[in-house]
Amino acid sequence: MNDIKERIAAELIAVRDRSLAYTDADDEMLVRQHSPLMSPLVWDLAHVGNYEELWVLREAAGIEPVRPEIDDIYDAFKTPRKDRPGLPFLGPSEARRYIEGVRGRVLDVLDAIDLDGAAPLHRDGFVFGLVIQHEHQHDETMLATLQLSGLPGLVRDGELPPGRDAGPEEVYVPAGPFLMGTDTLPWAYDNERPAHQVDLPGYWIDRLPVGNRAYAAFVEDGGYDAERWWSPEGWQWRQRSGATTPLFWQSDGRSWWRTRFGRTEPLPMDEPVQHVSWYEADAYARWAGKRLPTEPEWEKACGWDPELRRARRYPWGDADPGPSLANLGHRSARPAPLGAYPGGASPYGAEQMVGDVWEWTGSWFQPYPGFRSFPYKEYSEVFFGQEYRVLRGGSWAADPAAVRTTFRNWDYPIRRQIFTGFRCARSDEASTRRDRRLV
Ligand code: AVJ
Ligand code: FE
Repeated sequence: MNDIKERIAAELIAVRDRSLAYTDADDEMLVRQHSPLMSPLVWDLAHVGNYEELWVLREAAGIEPVRPEIDDIYDAFKTPRKDRPGLPFLGPSEARRYIEGVRGRVLDVLDAIDLDGAAPLHRDGFVFGLVIQHEHQHDETMLATLQLSGLPGLVRDGELPPGRDAGPEEVYVPAGPFLMGTDTLPWAYDNERPAHQVDLPGYWIDRLPVGNRAYAAFVEDGGYDAERWWSPEGWQWRQRSGATTPLFWQSDGRSWWRTRFGRTEPLPMDEPVQHVSWYEADAYARWAGKRLPTEPEWEKACGWDPELRRARRYPWGDADPGPSLANLGHRSARPAPLGAYPGGASPYGAEQMVGDVWEWTGSWFQPYPGFRSFPYKEYSEVFFGQEYRVLRGGSWAADPAAVRTTFRNWDYPIRRQIFTGFRCARSDEASTRRDRRLV
C-alpha cells in the first residue's frame, strides 16, 4: 500500500474506534430517544455504515448492495430525527455486525483501487474522505446527543494548555481582496468550491471567541429581557423558548454553574461560551456594539496570508493540528480557556478560530459563484437558501479530518445543543466609505 492508502486506512480505523467508543453502552441506552432533536445512537451507528456501503461499495466500486432492504431506514431525508425511534432500525449487535461487514469489504476496495484514476470519486481517495468526514460529523452529533441525555459518562479530561490574558480585544483586517474557498484541497466538499476572489473593506474582528464572563455580563445586564438587542425573529424565539441563559447553564442566585455530560460544575469564566443559538449570538453582538462576522470576513481573518497572497489550510499554516495549536478531536470534553493557543494565531492575529467551539457567522448558507453539486445534491445543495446559518472553525468535538479554513457547517438559527459559540466583528466605517466610493 502507498502512503495515501495507509493514511486512509489509519483514518478509517481511527474514526471507527471513535464511533464504537461512543456506543459502548447498554442496549437500552443506545435505542432510547434521548431528545426529539436527535436520533437514537444506534441509528447513527448503522447510518454511517450504510453511507459507507452506498458510497464506497456501490457507487465507487460497483458492488451489489449488502442489505438493500435497510436503505430507507437510514435515509436521513425519509424520516426526520424526531420520528426515527419508530423505525425498525437494526439493534445494537446487528448494527455492529453490519458496519463491520461493510468495513471489511471497504478495506478490500481500498487495496485494489487506483487513486490516481480519472474517476472523480476515486481521485485522491475522495470517496474515502467523504465517508471518513461523514462518520466524524455523526460522532460529533452523537456527543451532542450524549450531552443532552444528561447521563454521566464521556467526560474526557485530557490536559489543555492554560489560558492567557495578554493581547488586544480585536484585530484589524485591512481592506483588500482574498481568495475564498478552494480548488485544490482533495477532500474539500462541493460547498467549499470553487475558489473565488472576494474584495472586503477593512474590518475589526475579535481576537478570541466571546467568553463565559463576557456572556454572563450580557445575561446579568438583562440582555434576555431587552427586546432592543434582538432581531424580530430572535425576539420571537426568545419569547417562545423561554430561554434566559445559554443551554446547560444554571444559577444558584450567587454564581453560575453548568452541566457537562451529567456533571454539574462551576461555570469556567475564562472558557468560550457554548450552546448558544444564532439568535443569542446576534443579540449579544448588538449589546456589545458589534455584529457577527460575515462568512467571508471570518474566512479571511482565519486563513488568508497577506504576504504570500495565498490561503492557509489552518490559521497557523499547513501543518496538521497538534495539541499545542488547536483544541480538536475530543482530547478533552470542553473548549480550552481563552488565549490557550498563541501559536495557533492567524496571520492577522486572530486566535482559536479552529477548534474549541463552532462559530456562528452572520451569513446564510449559500452556494459560491460557479458551485457544482458533487457527488450528490443532498449533501449541500438542498440546504442552500435563507433557512440555515453558516458555522465555521470546528469545535473541540470535531476531528482534524473534518476541519479546515474553508470548511463550512450550517444549522438552523434556533439550534444550541451543538457545540457552538461565536466571536464578534465590526466595520471600519472609514474603510467602508472609501470602498463605496470605488464602486
Ligand atoms: C454538515 C453537519 C450540517 O449532520 O446535518 C451528515 C452533515 N450530511 N450526514 C449534518 C451530514 C449527511 C450535516 N452537517
Ligand atoms: Fe449522515
